[in-house]
Amino acid sequence: MDLNTLITVEGLARSFPAPKGGGNVTVFDELWFDVAKGEFVCLIGHSGCGKSTLLNILAGIDKPSGGVVIVDGKEITGPSLDRAVVFQGHALMPWMSVMANIAFAVTSRWPKWSAAKVREHCQHYIDMVNLTGAEDKKPAQLSGGMRQRVGIARALAIEPRIMLMDEPFSALDALTRGSLQDEVVSICTKTRQTTFMITHDIDEAILLADRILLMTNGPEARVAEIVVNTLPKGRVRNELHKHPNYYAMRNHLLDFLVSRSEDLRGMVEGVDPKHPPMVFPKAGDGGPQPTLAASRT
Ligand SMILES: Nc1ncnc2c1ncn2[C@@H]1O[C@H](COP(=O)(O)OP(=O)(O)OP(=O)(O)O)[C@@H](O)[C@H]1O
Ligand SMILES: [Mg+2]
Repeated sequence: MDLNTLITVEGLARSFPAPKGGGNVTVFDELWFDVAKGEFVCLIGHSGCGKSTLLNILAGIDKPSGGVVIVDGKEITGPSLDRAVVFQGHALMPWMSVMANIAFAVTSRWPKWSAAKVREHCQHYIDMVNLTGAEDKKPAQLSGGMRQRVGIARALAIEPRIMLMDEPFSALDALTRGSLQDEVVSICTKTRQTTFMITHDIDEAILLADRILLMTNGPEARVAEIVVNTLPKGRVRNELHKHPNYYAMRNHLLDFLVSRSEDLRGMVEGVDPKHPPMVFPKAGDGGPQPTLAASRT
């Protein structure tokens, strides 16, 4: 194992009983990938291909039907405060204020802390996501964007080794989404937070991710390709389109979502699932041309 690897996913599979009885439906199988310390990895795939299921397994709140998830050399067996999750919906406790929602998580992490210390710690993260002044509000009194900010602050506040995010901005309007993405960029750059995030949004992936995993449509979904972001780190949302590789990246991802993701057999035929092709879309490529590259492990 590479010393820099934090998460290793080996041969992961998940099946559920078929809705009409008679056997199982395999949502995905033979998923293999890794995430390095400090890396930001995005997962893109169509609705229903198993992204949330995968994230729940990484979080330890669902169990795979096969394969393992290894974090820091140890197989995970359940949830841990080392792995914080920002869910597809905000998942806040509706009867608790912003401060109390975050304090609840912080107290679970550091049970011996005094109330004053917990409050001070929470305030730091509330300020970080620009929610200063909303400490005493209940979730129902907040906008959708503000609720997602609380979810992000709560996840960050427990200082997890790994942040797992399931389409955290998908329900937001474009303006709010943009400003939250900017905050995530600045926080993750500052803290070198290892993050695994699911998204449907190609521009979001190009802005945030170091690498982008492309998942084919299910059933039996696979990681078809690993796209390395060829736009250098320090990316700024409004400047992305000026980079010479931007359109090559965007077209490659779009082409996958629009046409190639459906054709599982065509995508993964002849591909060793342990070593999905690595792709480096660059200006002048002349379209998507996956090239097999050595795996990083
Ligand atoms: N507990 C469950 N029991 C049975 N089937 C399930 C269960 N959870 C998920 N599935 C099925 O697994 C598949 C993948 O679901 P999942 O929620 O992981 O998709 P997703 O990729 O996150 O989709 P979306 O982009 O819409 O959020 C779906 O077909 C879903 O019906
Ligand atoms: Mg989902």
